[in-house]
Amino acid sequence: MPSSTNLTPITLSSAPLSAIDVDLLVLPWFEGQAPASVDGLDEATSGEVVRVLASREFLARPFELFFTPIVTRSWTPRRLLLVGAGPERTFGLDVVRRLATASVLAARQRRILSVAFVLRPGLPTAAGDVDAAGLLQAIAEGLTLGEFDGGAYKTGDAAFGPAPRLVIVEQVTEDISPERPARLVAAVTRGRVLGECSNRARQMANEPGNRFTPEEFARRASGIASDGGAQVEILDERQIADLNMGLLMGVARGSGEPPRLMVFRHDPPDASPGPVLGLVGKGITFDTGGISLKPADGMERMKSDMTGGAAVACAMHAIARLKAPIRVIGVVPATENMPGGRAIKPGDILTSAEGKTVEILNTDAEGRLVLGDGLWYARTLGATHLVDVATLTGAIVTALGKQITGLFGTPPWWVDRVRRTADRAGDRSWPLPVYDDYKDQLRSEIADFTNSGGRQAGSITAALFLKEFTGGLPWAHLDIAGTAWAEEAKPYQPKGATGVAVRTLAELPFTAADWK
Ligand code: BES
Ligand code: MN
Ligand code: ZN
Repeated sequence: MPSSTNLTPITLSSAPLSAIDVDLLVLPWFEGQAPASVDGLDEATSGEVVRVLASREFLARPFELFFTPIVTRSWTPRRLLLVGAGPERTFGLDVVRRLATASVLAARQRRILSVAFVLRPGLPTAAGDVDAAGLLQAIAEGLTLGEFDGGAYKTGDAAFGPAPRLVIVEQVTEDISPERPARLVAAVTRGRVLGECSNRARQMANEPGNRFTPEEFARRASGIASDGGAQVEILDERQIADLNMGLLMGVARGSGEPPRLMVFRHDPPDASPGPVLGLVGKGITFDTGGISLKPADGMERMKSDMTGGAAVACAMHAIARLKAPIRVIGVVPATENMPGGRAIKPGDILTSAEGKTVEILNTDAEGRLVLGDGLWYARTLGATHLVDVATLTGAIVTALGKQITGLFGTPPWWVDRVRRTADRAGDRSWPLPVYDDYKDQLRSEIADFTNSGGRQAGSITAALFLKEFTGGLPWAHLDIAGTAWAEEAKPYQPKGATGVAVRTLAELPFTAADWK
């Protein structure tokens, strides 16, 4: 089992560029930016910077890279990387986070062992409402995301070198208040923690189903959550049966691996009796589809059908560690969905812990089943505001593709709260409606409802199913089936698990002062 990544701090420096002791100095560069905008740079590279800009060899298009040695004896850094930042008007948290990731990945490809990422004077103003602390947090997140190693089971020569020592150089001076340095260091630490949590979730989502059973998932997730300071309780199959979780047990019947229910708690000692955030994550460690078996092509991807659950566990680590001001409960129902001899069949009827009956039309619609019992349990434990995260429907990939998470829920202010938090955290999402008009598609002649609404509006009917288990509480649902896994490598995102939703969930309790 690969070990978790280790968390060496990122150093924050305001020294002149010439004095930064690293192998690689990274400068984000805008399209059309003048070479003279950074003092001494041209001299330090013996004219190379002016030359590549004048010859248009380097245009500063997004993620374009230009490496050159630093030749002046008076400069300490050994090499310079100009990384294209695109047009200045597009600059902001998303751009800087991705630039930071791309820079670390490019450095690791070249086995470079120390990297300084420079936030130059003038940048925060270009970013509009974003302050230096926000930018530094995003840079720290991005640098940390660049440390992720997806090839944990490769025994030969790795494509990427080890994580380099990291420095952020910050020379923005318009705010000279005495609290400023402490605030900026705190922002870097926060970004480091959030990036690290995203990586831990990515690591779990990459794990193969044979090694990552529900039991193993529970073991690893408990380690991560408690390591951050959250309380953990793991319920086994007997305790799950005692809670009458017929939906979770129904999905688990087809597998030889017993199910687990993870419960995480963050209980700040000084929390007022205010809101309690309930996070619920889909934890299917492998989804074959069950008796409604999936086609063979691409089925290996279904090892990551526990991405929502991993996001909840890793967010709980960050929530506890960063000392969120409110109580938070995390619930992750974990099981395989297998077509064993005792598996549930189409036409079967299951009774949820809440007492509602479900006619199974398609055993491949298993995520909503385990989440139904999970949402109910989060409410039972005292949650007042709910968010669930799940690789729930193929239909959301058709609707929004691989870059945008589907966002559902009610009431609108709560959905909007989640959306704005996600936006800032770098998780793109877009709202889709959950009008009751489509509830007819879930009508059953024999039970309260079915588990499959058919072909039309598949992601919406899935959300409508979940809504039945939210007890009328404010609830948001993130369908990450498209965004959990990158099929194509990008400069800032290798193929594989993306760590989507971790930072959104972790940041959400910090916005509680604005909740209704
Ligand atoms: N885990 C899948 C959804 C999924 C699809 C995730 C593609 C990631 C990539 C989910 O359990 C599923 O099988 N959903 C079915 C629902 C249908 C049977 C109503 C689907 O989307 O086809
Ligand atoms: Mn399925
Ligand atoms: Zn699934």
